[in-house]
Amino acid sequence: MTVDSERHAVNRLISLERDEAMNGAEDCRAYVEHLQHEHGRLNQLLLEIGHEVAALGQVGQPEDSIAHFAQRLTDLRQQLQAHFAEEEAGGCLEEAVARCPSLSEDSKTIVAEHPLLDRMLEQLLAQTRNRAVSPADVQRDYRAFGDKLHAHEAAENRLLQMAFGAEATDYDVEGDD
Ligand SMILES: [Fe+2]
Ligand SMILES: [Fe+2]
Repeated sequence: MTVDSERHAVNRLISLERDEAMNGAEDCRAYVEHLQHEHGRLNQLLLEIGHEVAALGQVGQPEDSIAHFAQRLTDLRQQLQAHFAEEEAGGCLEEAVARCPSLSEDSKTIVAEHPLLDRMLEQLLAQTRNRAVSPADVQRDYRAFGDKLHAHEAAENRLLQMAFGAEATDYDVEGDD
């Protein structure tokens, strides 16, 4: 191989790598948009269940309102598990860290929170099976869970925004209640 053809081959390799990195970033931008949409949808679900939780224990509530709440929580838990799995397998958190190595610790913290959030929901579900539990306790713990999830998703959005730029808009933590 002549020096010229060798240089040509190296340049081609560099440009191929650049294209690949570009595609990674482009794919992630689309993926970030999808995650933002999912965050909005999950937040809406959280708010809807929050209304049901607030009504627990009030006069005139149907007898099976706790059982209905448990069903809603089970559904929320399944949706969140799928969401977390998607985030962990999607490769964009890794891509974010590859682009901005200083985000490494934040990314680890975010992923480590997934099982903690799941456990909070599991405990809340266990509470609903305990007949002696008071609505006030359930309401307090559901609020604590909602606050933790909001903080988690907001941190995630901030990280994606730092790595991929303006495409990642701020997560509306209050929702449009
Ligand atoms: Fe997450
Ligand atoms: Fe998320």
